[in-house]
Amino acid sequence: MTARILDGKALAAELRAEAAAEAAAFSAEHGRAPGLGVILAGDDPASRSYVTAKEKACAEAGIRSREVLLPASAGRARLLDAVAELNAADGIDGILVQLPLPDPSLEDEIIEAMDPAKDVDGFHPANAGRVALGLPAFVPCTPAGIMEMLRRAGVPTAGAEAVVVGRSRIVGRPLSILLSRKGADATVTVCHTRTRDLAAHTRRADILVAAAGRPGTIAADMVKPGAVVIDVGVNRVPDATRARGYRLEGDVDFAGVSAVASAITPVPGGVGPLTIAMLLKNTVEAARRRRAAAAGKGAVRP
Ligand code: GUN
Repeated sequence: MTARILDGKALAAELRAEAAAEAAAFSAEHGRAPGLGVILAGDDPASRSYVTAKEKACAEAGIRSREVLLPASAGRARLLDAVAELNAADGIDGILVQLPLPDPSLEDEIIEAMDPAKDVDGFHPANAGRVALGLPAFVPCTPAGIMEMLRRAGVPTAGAEAVVVGRSRIVGRPLSILLSRKGADATVTVCHTRTRDLAAHTRRADILVAAAGRPGTIAADMVKPGAVVIDVGVNRVPDATRARGYRLEGDVDFAGVSAVASAITPVPGGVGPLTIAMLLKNTVEAARRRRAAAAGKGAVRP
């Protein structure tokens, strides 16, 4: 079997066009564009390039973005000030704090300081809790993008055995919840670094999601023939033959697994582009909900 390639780039282009149309409609109705505030602390090159890509995508979609750039030395007080300023800014509908922070021990407090109604990453406990309860909420962008990809690619989830490798707050944990919720209805297993026999679990998967952050996590003999394999890994592997000195590799042995799976996402060009597309969608949605609340149509609910 040669797996069908699930083209995240093409799907992201569709989603971005939808977000642009929604942003244009919002701007026409309210006389201003939806706004995203981005906090970037430190000079980690990967974080810098993600933030630049997010800002460029906003500009292309007609979303205004405002960057708050802080030095790596910025402590708790400066980070909290930046969040408070964006919480209070009327033209800012969504807030994104790029993770990891230079001091990751501050992340929980900084995320909790965000107004949940502006938390377009879906990281605030109020949104995470609402996602777990199946209530309307901002859903973290990468899991939301993966669910959209499964839907639009016609991959059935109801009754499917789904195995998620990785339990991060950004991807594995929320995705496992989304897959098991009513409407998606998969039977979900979450594997992690302490899982005893990873291959025994992955071999049962109709839908296998690799979100471990480690190249080579999933080899061909760990995949059930015909499975749908979603590779969330974005690993920078040193490579002297590349001008930038590294290449991007997923968590999955793409060549080997392509011969076994029925469908697979490539890296790059699979899940990655969906994250930014869903951020645009969430930002427009935040803008709409804030306007609806301001017009007296109820409390601002994420
Ligand atoms: N770091 C890695 N992924 C993400 C993401 O989706 N959002 C934010 N804010 N930081 C990240």
